[in-house]
Amino acid sequence: MFIGIDLGTSSIKSILIGEDGRLIATASEPLKVSRPAPGFSEQDPESWYQATLSALDNLAKQAPREMATVRGIGLSGQQHGATLLDKSGNVLRPCILWNDVRSAKECKELEERLPALGSITGNPTLPGFTAPKLVWVKRHEPAIFARVAKVLLPKAYLRYRLSGEYIEDMSDASGTAWLEVGKRAWSKAALEATDLSIDHMPALVEGTAPAGRLRAELAQRWGMVQPPVIAGSAGDNAAGAIALGAIHPGDAFVSLGTSGVLWATTAGFAPNTTAAVHAFCHCVPNTWHQMGVILSAASCLSWLSSVVGVAEGDLLKELGEAVERPSSVVFLPYLSGERTPHNDADIRGAFAGMSHDTSRAVLAQSVMEGVAFAMRDCLEALRDAGTRLKSVDAIGGGARSKLWLAIIANVLDLPVNRLADSEVSGAMGGALLGRMAATGEPPSAVCKPPRRMETLEPQSTLRDAYAGAYAHYRKLYPAIKEATR
Ligand code: XUL
Repeated sequence: MFIGIDLGTSSIKSILIGEDGRLIATASEPLKVSRPAPGFSEQDPESWYQATLSALDNLAKQAPREMATVRGIGLSGQQHGATLLDKSGNVLRPCILWNDVRSAKECKELEERLPALGSITGNPTLPGFTAPKLVWVKRHEPAIFARVAKVLLPKAYLRYRLSGEYIEDMSDASGTAWLEVGKRAWSKAALEATDLSIDHMPALVEGTAPAGRLRAELAQRWGMVQPPVIAGSAGDNAAGAIALGAIHPGDAFVSLGTSGVLWATTAGFAPNTTAAVHAFCHCVPNTWHQMGVILSAASCLSWLSSVVGVAEGDLLKELGEAVERPSSVVFLPYLSGERTPHNDADIRGAFAGMSHDTSRAVLAQSVMEGVAFAMRDCLEALRDAGTRLKSVDAIGGGARSKLWLAIIANVLDLPVNRLADSEVSGAMGGALLGRMAATGEPPSAVCKPPRRMETLEPQSTLRDAYAGAYAHYRKLYPAIKEATR
Protein backbone atom coordinates (compact mmCIF):
# COMPACT_ATOMS: atom_id res chain seq x y z
CA MET A 1 0.00 0.00 0.00
CA PHE A 2 1.14 3.54 -0.73
CA ILE A 3 0.02 7.00 0.31
CA GLY A 4 0.11 10.18 -1.76
CA ILE A 5 -0.26 13.58 -0.10
CA ASP A 6 -0.86 16.62 -2.28
CA LEU A 7 -0.11 19.84 -0.42
CA GLY A 8 -2.06 22.26 -2.61
CA THR A 9 -2.95 25.89 -2.08
CA SER A 10 -6.62 25.39 -1.28
CA SER A 11 -6.47 21.91 0.28
CA ILE A 12 -4.51 18.88 1.34
CA LYS A 13 -5.61 15.86 -0.69
CA SER A 14 -4.48 12.43 0.42
CA ILE A 15 -4.99 9.05 -1.18
CA LEU A 16 -4.29 5.46 -0.27
CA ILE A 17 -3.59 3.08 -3.17
CA GLY A 18 -2.98 -0.64 -3.38
CA GLU A 19 0.12 -2.43 -4.67
CA ASP A 20 -1.72 -2.68 -8.03
CA GLY A 21 -2.48 1.07 -8.14
CA ARG A 22 -6.13 0.63 -7.11
CA LEU A 23 -7.60 3.64 -5.30
CA ILE A 24 -8.63 2.52 -1.79
CA ALA A 25 -9.47 5.74 0.06
CA THR A 26 -9.21 9.50 -0.27
CA ALA A 27 -9.43 12.31 2.28
CA SER A 28 -9.11 16.08 1.93
CA GLU A 29 -8.82 19.00 4.30
CA PRO A 30 -9.22 22.64 3.30
CA LEU A 31 -6.44 25.23 3.68
CA LYS A 32 -6.70 28.98 4.04
CA VAL A 33 -4.62 31.61 2.22
CA SER A 34 -4.13 35.02 3.80
CA ARG A 35 -3.59 38.12 1.69
CA PRO A 36 -2.31 40.70 4.18
CA ALA A 37 -1.57 43.30 1.47
CA PRO A 38 -2.24 43.57 -2.29
CA GLY A 39 -0.04 41.06 -4.14
CA PHE A 40 0.80 39.22 -0.91
CA SER A 41 -0.19 35.56 -0.44
CA GLU A 42 0.76 33.62 2.68
CA GLN A 43 -0.06 30.42 4.55
CA ASP A 44 0.67 29.11 8.01
CA PRO A 45 2.96 26.03 7.65
CA GLU A 46 1.48 24.58 10.85
CA SER A 47 -1.87 24.38 9.03
CA TRP A 48 -0.32 22.08 6.38
CA TYR A 49 0.84 19.69 9.07
CA GLN A 50 -2.42 19.76 11.03
CA ALA A 51 -4.46 19.24 7.85
CA THR A 52 -2.19 16.32 6.88
CA LEU A 53 -2.69 14.71 10.30
CA SER A 54 -6.48 15.03 9.95
CA ALA A 55 -6.47 13.71 6.37
CA LEU A 56 -4.37 10.67 7.31
CA ASP A 57 -6.46 10.06 10.45
CA ASN A 58 -9.39 9.92 8.07
CA LEU A 59 -7.63 7.45 5.72
CA ALA A 60 -6.78 5.26 8.72
CA LYS A 61 -10.42 5.34 9.81
CA GLN A 62 -11.71 4.40 6.36
CA ALA A 63 -9.19 1.62 5.65
CA PRO A 64 -7.42 0.50 8.84
CA ARG A 65 -6.33 -2.88 7.46
CA GLU A 66 -4.75 -1.42 4.33
CA MET A 67 -3.20 1.45 6.28
CA ALA A 68 -1.32 -1.08 8.44
CA THR A 69 0.74 -2.25 5.47
CA VAL A 70 1.69 1.10 3.91
CA ARG A 71 5.26 0.84 2.60
CA GLY A 72 5.81 4.17 0.89
CA ILE A 73 4.59 7.76 1.05
CA GLY A 74 5.10 10.40 -1.64
CA LEU A 75 4.40 14.11 -1.48
CA SER A 76 3.25 16.53 -4.14
CA GLY A 77 3.69 20.16 -3.21
CA GLN A 78 2.64 23.61 -4.32
CA GLN A 79 5.93 24.98 -5.61
CA HIS A 80 8.22 27.92 -4.82
CA GLY A 81 6.96 28.95 -1.34
CA ALA A 82 9.55 30.20 1.16
CA THR A 83 9.23 28.48 4.54
CA LEU A 84 11.84 29.96 6.87
CA LEU A 85 13.14 27.99 9.85
CA ASP A 86 15.48 28.92 12.69
CA LYS A 87 18.25 26.61 13.85
CA SER A 88 15.86 24.62 16.03
CA GLY A 89 13.47 24.01 13.14
CA ASN A 90 10.88 26.57 14.29
CA VAL A 91 8.94 28.48 11.63
CA LEU A 92 9.97 32.16 11.62
CA ARG A 93 7.07 33.73 9.69
CA PRO A 94 4.14 32.64 7.48
CA CYS A 95 5.22 30.96 4.24
CA ILE A 96 5.35 33.38 1.28
CA LEU A 97 3.55 31.46 -1.48
CA TRP A 98 4.12 30.83 -5.19
CA ASN A 99 1.45 33.34 -6.23
CA ASP A 100 2.81 36.16 -4.06
CA VAL A 101 4.22 38.91 -6.28
CA ARG A 102 5.65 41.31 -3.68
CA SER A 103 9.26 40.73 -4.74
CA ALA A 104 9.21 42.02 -8.34
CA LYS A 105 11.72 44.76 -7.50
CA GLU A 106 13.98 42.24 -5.77
CA CYS A 107 14.07 40.11 -8.96
CA LYS A 108 15.61 43.00 -10.89
CA GLU A 109 17.99 43.66 -8.05
CA LEU A 110 19.12 40.02 -7.99
CA GLU A 111 19.76 40.04 -11.73
CA GLU A 112 21.83 43.19 -11.35
CA ARG A 113 23.79 41.65 -8.50
CA LEU A 114 24.45 38.46 -10.50
CA PRO A 115 23.90 39.11 -14.23
CA ALA A 116 24.65 35.43 -14.98
CA LEU A 117 21.76 34.27 -12.75
CA GLY A 118 19.44 33.52 -15.70
CA SER A 119 22.06 31.45 -17.47
CA ILE A 120 23.03 29.63 -14.24
CA THR A 121 19.46 28.63 -13.40
CA GLY A 122 18.22 28.51 -17.02
CA ASN A 123 15.12 30.36 -15.86
CA PRO A 124 13.80 33.88 -15.61
CA THR A 125 13.96 35.23 -12.06
CA LEU A 126 10.27 35.58 -11.19
CA PRO A 127 8.69 37.03 -8.03
CA GLY A 128 6.93 33.69 -7.59
CA PHE A 129 10.28 31.94 -7.18
CA THR A 130 11.89 31.51 -3.78
CA ALA A 131 15.16 33.47 -4.02
CA PRO A 132 13.70 36.98 -4.53
CA LYS A 133 11.37 36.38 -1.57
CA LEU A 134 14.45 36.05 0.64
CA VAL A 135 15.84 39.33 -0.69
CA TRP A 136 12.50 40.91 0.27
CA VAL A 137 12.65 39.40 3.77
CA LYS A 138 16.20 40.64 4.25
CA ARG A 139 15.12 44.18 3.33
CA HIS A 140 11.80 44.35 5.18
CA GLU A 141 12.26 41.92 8.06
CA PRO A 142 16.02 41.95 8.76
CA ALA A 143 15.65 40.50 12.26
CA ILE A 144 13.88 37.44 10.81
CA PHE A 145 16.40 37.09 7.98
CA ALA A 146 19.24 37.08 10.51
CA ARG A 147 17.71 34.00 12.21
CA VAL A 148 17.10 31.97 9.03
CA ALA A 149 18.92 28.62 9.27
CA LYS A 150 16.98 26.65 6.61
CA VAL A 151 14.77 27.62 3.69
CA LEU A 152 12.32 24.90 2.71
CA LEU A 153 9.68 24.62 0.01
CA PRO A 154 6.23 23.69 1.35
CA LYS A 155 6.41 19.94 0.81
CA ALA A 156 10.00 19.81 2.17
CA TYR A 157 8.66 21.43 5.33
CA LEU A 158 5.89 18.82 5.49
CA ARG A 159 8.52 16.08 5.05
CA TYR A 160 10.51 17.65 7.87
CA ARG A 161 7.49 17.45 10.18
CA LEU A 162 6.71 13.89 9.09
CA SER A 163 10.27 12.53 9.21
CA GLY A 164 12.61 15.05 10.85
CA GLU A 165 14.76 15.26 7.66
CA TYR A 166 15.77 18.28 5.59
CA ILE A 167 15.58 16.91 2.03
CA GLU A 168 14.37 18.36 -1.27
CA ASP A 169 13.79 16.85 -4.72
CA MET A 170 15.13 18.21 -8.04
CA SER A 171 11.79 19.20 -9.59
CA ASP A 172 10.75 21.47 -6.73
CA ALA A 173 14.31 22.75 -6.15
CA SER A 174 14.26 23.95 -9.80
CA GLY A 175 11.73 26.63 -8.86
CA THR A 176 13.89 28.35 -6.26
CA ALA A 177 16.32 30.25 -8.59
CA TRP A 178 19.10 28.63 -6.54
CA LEU A 179 19.45 25.44 -8.61
CA GLU A 180 21.71 24.89 -11.62
CA VAL A 181 18.93 23.07 -13.38
CA GLY A 182 21.15 21.65 -16.14
CA LYS A 183 23.50 20.15 -13.52
CA ARG A 184 20.89 19.23 -10.90
CA ALA A 185 22.94 20.91 -8.13
CA TRP A 186 22.60 23.96 -5.84
CA SER A 187 24.43 27.00 -7.21
CA LYS A 188 26.85 28.54 -4.74
CA ALA A 189 26.86 31.80 -6.75
CA ALA A 190 23.05 32.07 -6.83
CA LEU A 191 22.85 31.42 -3.08
CA GLU A 192 25.56 33.98 -2.35
CA ALA A 193 23.66 36.57 -4.39
CA THR A 194 20.88 36.27 -1.77
CA ASP A 195 23.33 36.26 1.16
CA LEU A 196 22.72 32.56 1.80
CA SER A 197 24.89 29.45 1.53
CA ILE A 198 24.46 25.75 0.78
CA ASP A 199 24.04 25.19 4.55
CA HIS A 200 20.68 26.97 4.31
CA MET A 201 19.47 24.41 1.77
CA PRO A 202 18.10 20.89 2.32
CA ALA A 203 20.00 17.93 0.80
CA LEU A 204 19.06 17.17 -2.82
CA VAL A 205 17.71 13.83 -4.10
CA GLU A 206 15.77 12.58 -7.11
CA GLY A 207 12.01 12.40 -6.61
CA THR A 208 11.97 8.61 -6.91
CA ALA A 209 14.69 8.07 -4.28
CA PRO A 210 14.06 7.24 -0.60
CA ALA A 211 14.27 10.44 1.45
CA GLY A 212 13.43 9.80 5.09
CA ARG A 213 11.00 7.60 6.99
CA LEU A 214 7.76 8.45 8.74
CA ARG A 215 8.39 9.17 12.45
CA ALA A 216 7.65 6.13 14.59
CA GLU A 217 4.95 7.85 16.66
CA LEU A 218 3.05 8.85 13.50
CA ALA A 219 3.33 5.33 12.07
CA GLN A 220 1.89 4.09 15.35
CA ARG A 221 -0.92 6.67 15.31
CA TRP A 222 -2.04 5.30 11.93
CA GLY A 223 -1.58 1.65 12.88
CA MET A 224 1.29 1.03 10.46
CA VAL A 225 3.32 -2.09 11.10
CA GLN A 226 6.56 -0.34 10.06
CA PRO A 227 7.35 3.32 9.42
CA PRO A 228 7.03 3.75 5.63
CA VAL A 229 9.76 5.32 3.52
CA ILE A 230 9.07 8.82 2.18
CA ALA A 231 10.06 9.46 -1.44
CA GLY A 232 12.10 12.46 -2.59
CA SER A 233 8.70 13.39 -4.09
CA ALA A 234 7.90 16.28 -6.42
CA GLY A 235 6.52 19.72 -7.08
CA ASP A 236 2.80 19.40 -7.82
CA ASN A 237 3.15 19.71 -11.57
CA ALA A 238 5.88 17.05 -11.77
CA ALA A 239 3.79 14.81 -9.51
CA GLY A 240 0.85 15.32 -11.88
CA ALA A 241 3.12 14.27 -14.74
CA ILE A 242 3.95 11.01 -12.92
CA ALA A 243 0.24 10.20 -12.58
CA LEU A 244 -0.20 10.84 -16.30
CA GLY A 245 2.80 8.73 -17.30
CA ALA A 246 4.32 11.93 -18.76
CA ILE A 247 7.93 10.82 -18.47
CA HIS A 248 8.76 10.62 -22.20
CA PRO A 249 9.85 13.59 -24.34
CA GLY A 250 6.80 15.21 -25.96
CA ASP A 251 4.33 14.01 -23.30
CA ALA A 252 2.20 17.02 -22.37
CA PHE A 253 -0.69 18.21 -20.25
CA VAL A 254 -2.65 21.29 -19.31
CA SER A 255 -3.53 21.80 -15.67
CA LEU A 256 -6.48 24.02 -14.75
CA GLY A 257 -6.05 24.57 -11.02
CA THR A 258 -5.73 27.80 -9.05
CA SER A 259 -2.87 28.42 -11.53
CA GLY A 260 -2.75 27.10 -15.07
CA VAL A 261 0.13 25.10 -16.50
CA LEU A 262 1.09 23.83 -19.92
CA TRP A 263 3.66 21.09 -19.32
CA ALA A 264 5.95 19.33 -21.79
CA THR A 265 8.45 16.62 -20.83
CA THR A 266 11.81 17.18 -22.53
CA ALA A 267 14.78 14.86 -23.11
CA GLY A 268 17.24 17.52 -22.00
CA PHE A 269 17.42 20.89 -20.33
CA ALA A 270 15.74 23.34 -22.78
CA PRO A 271 15.43 26.91 -21.50
CA ASN A 272 13.67 29.97 -23.02
CA THR A 273 14.05 32.68 -20.41
CA THR A 274 12.78 35.58 -22.55
CA ALA A 275 9.21 34.26 -22.67
CA ALA A 276 9.31 33.21 -18.99
CA VAL A 277 9.27 29.49 -19.81
CA HIS A 278 10.05 27.42 -16.73
CA ALA A 279 12.78 24.92 -17.69
CA PHE A 280 12.95 22.56 -14.71
CA CYS A 281 14.19 19.10 -13.72
CA HIS A 282 11.57 16.36 -13.81
CA CYS A 283 11.21 14.28 -10.64
CA VAL A 284 12.64 11.21 -12.41
CA PRO A 285 16.39 11.01 -13.06
CA ASN A 286 17.95 12.40 -16.27
CA THR A 287 14.73 14.01 -17.44
CA TRP A 288 13.67 17.65 -17.62
CA HIS A 289 10.54 19.53 -18.58
CA GLN A 290 9.25 22.88 -19.70
CA MET A 291 6.22 24.69 -18.33
CA GLY A 292 4.32 27.77 -19.25
CA VAL A 293 2.60 28.97 -16.08
CA ILE A 294 -0.33 31.36 -15.77
CA LEU A 295 -1.13 32.59 -12.29
CA SER A 296 -4.93 32.49 -12.50
CA ALA A 297 -6.80 29.71 -14.31
CA ALA A 298 -9.73 27.89 -12.68
CA SER A 299 -9.52 30.64 -10.05
CA CYS A 300 -10.80 33.13 -12.69
CA LEU A 301 -14.10 31.27 -12.89
CA SER A 302 -14.34 31.07 -9.08
CA TRP A 303 -13.71 34.81 -9.01
CA LEU A 304 -16.51 35.50 -11.53
CA SER A 305 -18.83 33.16 -9.68
CA SER A 306 -18.29 35.03 -6.41
CA VAL A 307 -18.72 38.43 -8.09
CA VAL A 308 -22.01 37.54 -9.79
CA GLY A 309 -23.21 35.45 -6.85
CA VAL A 310 -23.90 32.29 -8.87
CA ALA A 311 -22.25 28.92 -8.15
CA GLU A 312 -19.69 27.87 -10.75
CA GLY A 313 -21.70 24.80 -11.75
CA ASP A 314 -24.79 26.96 -12.40
CA LEU A 315 -22.74 29.48 -14.39
CA LEU A 316 -21.50 26.65 -16.59
CA LYS A 317 -25.05 25.34 -17.01
CA GLU A 318 -26.09 28.72 -18.42
CA LEU A 319 -23.56 28.17 -21.21
CA GLY A 320 -24.95 24.81 -22.26
CA GLU A 321 -22.98 22.00 -23.86
CA ALA A 322 -21.15 23.87 -26.62
CA VAL A 323 -20.33 27.36 -27.84
CA GLU A 324 -21.27 28.45 -31.34
CA ARG A 325 -18.61 31.12 -31.75
CA PRO A 326 -15.98 32.97 -29.69
CA SER A 327 -17.46 35.43 -27.25
CA SER A 328 -17.75 39.07 -28.31
CA VAL A 329 -16.13 39.99 -24.99
CA VAL A 330 -12.43 39.31 -24.40
CA PHE A 331 -11.12 38.62 -20.89
CA LEU A 332 -7.50 39.01 -19.81
CA PRO A 333 -6.96 36.58 -16.90
CA TYR A 334 -4.24 38.56 -15.14
CA LEU A 335 -6.02 38.73 -11.76
CA SER A 336 -2.75 38.47 -9.87
CA GLY A 337 -0.19 39.47 -12.52
CA GLU A 338 1.22 37.02 -15.05
CA ARG A 339 4.23 34.76 -15.51
CA THR A 340 4.41 33.16 -18.98
CA PRO A 341 4.96 34.91 -21.34
CA HIS A 342 4.90 38.41 -19.87
CA ASN A 343 6.67 38.08 -16.51
CA ASP A 344 4.65 41.03 -15.27
CA ALA A 345 3.70 41.24 -11.60
CA ASP A 346 1.84 44.56 -12.04
CA ILE A 347 -0.51 43.78 -14.91
CA ARG A 348 -4.13 43.16 -13.94
CA GLY A 349 -7.11 41.57 -15.69
CA ALA A 350 -9.66 43.23 -17.97
CA PHE A 351 -12.87 42.66 -19.90
CA ALA A 352 -12.95 44.31 -23.32
CA GLY A 353 -15.93 44.72 -25.63
CA MET A 354 -18.87 44.79 -23.19
CA SER A 355 -22.26 46.18 -24.25
CA HIS A 356 -25.79 46.52 -22.85
CA ASP A 357 -26.61 43.01 -23.91
CA THR A 358 -23.56 41.38 -22.33
CA SER A 359 -25.00 38.66 -20.14
CA ARG A 360 -23.56 36.67 -17.26
CA ALA A 361 -23.16 33.71 -19.64
CA VAL A 362 -21.17 35.83 -22.09
CA LEU A 363 -18.85 36.89 -19.28
CA ALA A 364 -18.43 33.26 -18.19
CA GLN A 365 -17.59 32.20 -21.74
CA SER A 366 -15.11 35.03 -22.12
CA VAL A 367 -13.43 34.07 -18.82
CA MET A 368 -12.98 30.48 -20.00
CA GLU A 369 -11.69 31.68 -23.35
CA GLY A 370 -9.31 34.19 -21.75
CA VAL A 371 -7.71 31.36 -19.76
CA ALA A 372 -7.50 29.30 -22.97
CA PHE A 373 -5.83 32.22 -24.82
CA ALA A 374 -3.31 32.56 -21.98
CA MET A 375 -2.60 28.84 -22.41
CA ARG A 376 -2.06 29.45 -26.13
CA ASP A 377 0.51 32.12 -25.17
CA CYS A 378 2.24 29.36 -23.17
CA LEU A 379 2.10 27.01 -26.17
CA GLU A 380 3.76 29.66 -28.36
CA ALA A 381 6.47 30.21 -25.72
CA LEU A 382 7.18 26.46 -25.59
CA ARG A 383 7.24 26.33 -29.40
CA ASP A 384 9.85 29.10 -29.41
CA ALA A 385 11.90 26.88 -27.11
CA GLY A 386 11.78 24.09 -29.69
CA THR A 387 8.87 22.01 -28.34
CA ARG A 388 6.20 20.59 -30.66
CA LEU A 389 3.14 18.99 -29.07
CA LYS A 390 0.74 16.49 -30.65
CA SER A 391 -1.94 16.38 -27.95
CA VAL A 392 -2.42 17.18 -24.26
CA ASP A 393 -4.10 15.52 -21.29
CA ALA A 394 -6.16 17.80 -19.03
CA ILE A 395 -6.07 17.80 -15.22
CA GLY A 396 -7.12 20.07 -12.33
CA GLY A 397 -10.51 21.25 -11.09
CA GLY A 398 -11.26 23.14 -14.32
CA ALA A 399 -10.84 19.94 -16.35
CA ARG A 400 -14.20 18.75 -14.99
CA SER A 401 -15.82 21.06 -17.54
CA LYS A 402 -15.99 19.38 -20.93
CA LEU A 403 -16.94 22.72 -22.45
CA TRP A 404 -13.78 24.36 -21.13
CA LEU A 405 -11.67 21.54 -22.58
CA ALA A 406 -13.43 21.88 -25.96
CA ILE A 407 -12.61 25.61 -25.96
CA ILE A 408 -8.99 24.83 -25.10
CA ALA A 409 -8.79 22.28 -27.93
CA ASN A 410 -9.99 24.93 -30.40
CA VAL A 411 -7.73 27.67 -29.07
CA LEU A 412 -4.60 25.48 -28.87
CA ASP A 413 -5.57 23.74 -32.11
CA LEU A 414 -4.58 20.49 -30.41
CA PRO A 415 -6.53 17.40 -29.33
CA VAL A 416 -7.28 17.52 -25.57
CA ASN A 417 -7.81 14.25 -23.67
CA ARG A 418 -10.49 14.15 -21.00
CA LEU A 419 -9.49 11.83 -18.17
CA ALA A 420 -11.47 9.60 -15.86
CA ASP A 421 -9.67 10.87 -12.73
CA SER A 422 -8.53 14.38 -13.56
CA GLU A 423 -8.47 15.70 -10.01
CA VAL A 424 -6.39 13.40 -7.88
CA SER A 425 -3.35 13.50 -10.12
CA GLY A 426 -0.99 15.31 -7.71
CA ALA A 427 -1.78 12.91 -4.88
CA MET A 428 -1.69 9.93 -7.26
CA GLY A 429 1.71 11.02 -8.58
CA GLY A 430 2.87 11.32 -4.97
CA ALA A 431 1.65 7.79 -4.19
CA LEU A 432 3.45 6.39 -7.25
CA LEU A 433 6.66 8.16 -6.19
CA GLY A 434 6.18 6.57 -2.75
CA ARG A 435 5.89 3.21 -4.50
CA MET A 436 9.10 3.74 -6.53
CA ALA A 437 11.00 4.82 -3.40
CA ALA A 438 9.78 1.76 -1.48
CA THR A 439 10.18 -0.87 -4.20
CA GLY A 440 13.01 0.49 -6.35
CA GLU A 441 10.92 -0.12 -9.49
CA PRO A 442 11.94 2.03 -12.48
CA PRO A 443 9.61 4.88 -13.60
CA SER A 444 8.84 3.06 -16.88
CA ALA A 445 7.28 0.18 -14.89
CA VAL A 446 5.12 2.44 -12.73
CA CYS A 447 4.18 5.56 -14.75
CA LYS A 448 1.52 4.56 -17.27
CA PRO A 449 -0.82 6.69 -19.42
CA PRO A 450 -4.05 7.57 -17.60
CA ARG A 451 -7.57 6.34 -18.36
CA ARG A 452 -8.75 8.67 -21.13
CA MET A 453 -12.52 8.99 -21.42
CA GLU A 454 -12.52 10.87 -24.72
CA THR A 455 -10.44 13.13 -26.93
CA LEU A 456 -11.79 16.56 -27.79
CA GLU A 457 -10.54 17.42 -31.26
CA PRO A 458 -10.27 21.00 -32.53
CA GLN A 459 -13.45 21.74 -34.54
CA SER A 460 -12.79 22.78 -38.11
CA THR A 461 -15.80 25.14 -37.97
CA LEU A 462 -14.41 27.07 -34.99
CA ARG A 463 -10.64 26.90 -35.46
CA ASP A 464 -10.40 29.98 -37.71
CA ALA A 465 -12.77 32.02 -35.57
CA TYR A 466 -10.66 31.23 -32.51
CA ALA A 467 -7.43 32.04 -34.37
CA GLY A 468 -8.94 35.49 -35.08
CA ALA A 469 -10.08 35.92 -31.47
CA TYR A 470 -6.60 34.95 -30.23
CA ALA A 471 -4.99 37.54 -32.53
CA HIS A 472 -7.32 40.15 -30.98
CA TYR A 473 -6.44 38.94 -27.46
CA ARG A 474 -2.73 39.33 -28.24
CA LYS A 475 -3.23 43.03 -28.98
CA LEU A 476 -4.84 43.72 -25.62
CA TYR A 477 -1.90 43.06 -23.27
CA PRO A 478 0.33 45.82 -24.71
CA ALA A 479 -2.66 48.19 -24.89
CA ILE A 480 -3.72 47.57 -21.26
CA LYS A 481 -0.12 47.76 -20.16
CA GLU A 482 0.30 51.13 -21.82
CA ALA A 483 -3.03 52.45 -20.52
CA THR A 484 -2.37 51.48 -16.90
CA ARG A 485 1.30 52.42 -16.78
C1 XUL B 1 4.30 26.40 -10.90
C2 XUL B 1 3.47 27.11 -9.90
C3 XUL B 1 2.12 26.58 -9.57
C4 XUL B 1 2.11 25.98 -8.22
C5 XUL B 1 0.70 25.64 -7.84
O1 XUL B 1 5.45 27.09 -11.23
O2 XUL B 1 3.84 28.10 -9.33
O3 XUL B 1 1.66 25.69 -10.53
O4 XUL B 1 2.96 24.87 -8.18
O5 XUL B 1 0.63 24.86 -6.74
